Amino acid sequence: MSELKETILHRRAIRRFEERQITLFAPKDFLFAAEDCACAAENMMLMADSLGVGSCYIGQGRTAFADPYGQEILRRWNIRTDYYAVMQLLLGYPKEGDHHPAPKPRKDGRVLRF
Ligand SMILES: Cc1cc2nc3c(=O)[nH]c(=O)nc-3n(C[C@H](O)[C@H](O)[C@H](O)COP(=O)(O)O)c2cc1C
Repeated sequence: MSELKETILHRRAIRRFEERQITLFAPKDFLFAAEDCACAAENMMLMADSLGVGSCYIGQGRTAFADPYGQEILRRWNIRTDYYAVMQLLLGYPKEGDHHPAPKPRKDGRVLRF
């Protein structure tokens, strides 16, 4: 494959990825960054679900953006260097005919009441 074609395919892949994800960033020195982003993400997932959009919580934001592709994306998005990607949501439409997942059976004794 020519270098030009490889570059075009690479850029297309990055664009496709960008259009189907949400990344939550927070200050690197903020104690509750993970908790706040997780709460926000859950609300986004519930809203997405109500609109018929599926989502997947990805907790590897920090490592995913560490490689050269990730660094390129962060530069293009103008992300401040004192912020980090806490997590991501990948979004997509469920396959036609796929059923909404039913809640998994609860395990006895896993919920403690005081
Ligand atoms: C805090 C958290 C972090 C997660 N991080 C990742 C991740 O980095 N990569 C991944 O493939 N799945 C990750 N998952 C799992 C997926 O979001 C999802 O829960 C999993 O695929 C199970 O889906 P299922 O309930 O349909 O089986 C994470 C889940 C949670 C709750």
